[in-house]
Amino acid sequence: MIMLSSLLSFFTSAFSQQSARVVINGNAPSTTISKHIYGHFSEHLGRCIYDGFWVDENSKIPNKGRIRLDIVEALKKINIPNLRWPGGCFADEYHWRDGIGPRKARPKMVNTNWGGVTEDNSFGTHEFLELCSMLGTEPYIAGNVGSGTVEEMSKWIEYLNFNGQSPMSEIRKQNGRNEPWNVAFWGVGNENWGCGGNMTAEYYADQYKRYASYCKNYPGANLKKVAGGANSEDYNWTETLMRKVPLNMMWGISLHYYTVPKTWGDKGSATAFDEKEYAATMKKALYMNELVSRHSAIMDRYDPQKRVALVVDEWGIWTNVEPNTNPGFLYQQNSLRDALIAGVHLNIFNNHAERVKMANLAQTVNVLQALILTEGNKMLLTPTYHVFDLFKVHQDAKLLPIQVSTPHYTLDNIKLPAVNVSASQDPTGVVHISFVNLDPNKKISVNSILSGVNWKSVSGQIITSAKLTDVNSFQNDSKIKPVAFTGAKKEGDALIVELPAQSVVVLELKN
Ligand code: AHR
Repeated sequence: MIMLSSLLSFFTSAFSQQSARVVINGNAPSTTISKHIYGHFSEHLGRCIYDGFWVDENSKIPNKGRIRLDIVEALKKINIPNLRWPGGCFADEYHWRDGIGPRKARPKMVNTNWGGVTEDNSFGTHEFLELCSMLGTEPYIAGNVGSGTVEEMSKWIEYLNFNGQSPMSEIRKQNGRNEPWNVAFWGVGNENWGCGGNMTAEYYADQYKRYASYCKNYPGANLKKVAGGANSEDYNWTETLMRKVPLNMMWGISLHYYTVPKTWGDKGSATAFDEKEYAATMKKALYMNELVSRHSAIMDRYDPQKRVALVVDEWGIWTNVEPNTNPGFLYQQNSLRDALIAGVHLNIFNNHAERVKMANLAQTVNVLQALILTEGNKMLLTPTYHVFDLFKVHQDAKLLPIQVSTPHYTLDNIKLPAVNVSASQDPTGVVHISFVNLDPNKKISVNSILSGVNWKSVSGQIITSAKLTDVNSFQNDSKIKPVAFTGAKKEGDALIVELPAQSVVVLELKN
């Protein structure tokens, strides 16, 4: 009897031992993974700006000119490459002239999209650009098409970027800034199919041309104009823009897609979900690969040389808000599931680096899939933050093409490729490989062959936890954090990796 049960358990573990195979081609890599894929988004929404980046005048929280320093330090550590602002839906009701000049004199407005709260405009153009300068990051500003005028947008750019004498540059100087900021990334509206004006694709394409014509390049300040793009699988939107707008009028076209675990009516909890909901959520996260592939295929037809970028400037998991918080503030916790979602998305963007030149997670602090949560003077780094920390090695590195043969993670009628990978080589020749094992039950042994890469040693870091629902909280802010990974070794020419279940692993291979 005992012999039979040990035999059974031997077979069970032998059969649950999964293996994957990865072939990485290090011969003549040509595509650069733009660092801007690792971009972020900060909207005037809930506690992202106010009570997030921006503290009260008399706050005891360490700050410089009301910008919170612990947040700045944390974001600098992950090399945040760009920051999108002021929205989102907020952008299309924002009038920039209300956010300049003496703060006490700035008009107030109602933030109709996000909780109907009063916006005092104390955080405006100068404050945002000061934040970017403290972060060492590039600003990405979304102009107002929905409720703003061509003149308003055009004058904002003159205010930001013109170095000579002009009405707008004079006002800028009176407001204490002599030099222009030379802002490059410029969004011409946001979600113009929805909160940005409920336009049709045809109508927006015409409006885009009109607005973009007056978004001028001033000396030393060439704009990278991004057309407001499609919602998820609205392929007609992308097709219409590519057909109607001359390619040289756009640096990029955006795409927005959120991973919603259940439905828009009841999105599902950020922290209380079962495996069934987890599997459904990961299926939706992986859908990003199909979206990027299909929008890119449309763009390829009009732009085979890939001059126009696909800019995924809103992505991430969107759940119900935390209990007892303002539903308009979109404050949600961040679990190990979020880390796996972040890893999957970043691998997808890396692997599509030929077309995807920029992406922005929604949103940086206290909103949606945040990197950072705050409570009074406390601040914590979410599991998602740690994924960006590990993946930063891919920024501006050369993409190494890969082929993956992976077992599937199956639950009921859901069947997903369990292992998700991308690889790059940095300018010093060091290779980084990022793996996600999204199977919550099975470890997977990965056998990788790297052609054209000389390497002798491997080291790495892992993010995982006992439960998918585990989070970092203000009581325990380090439950999930990267630790050294010892499950990778060199065997002859092969790289053997024992990937634990529900984990994100980033390896470094050196010669
Ligand atoms: O990120 C939250 C909101 O989601 C943005 O304001 C909007 O663009 C999108 O619908």
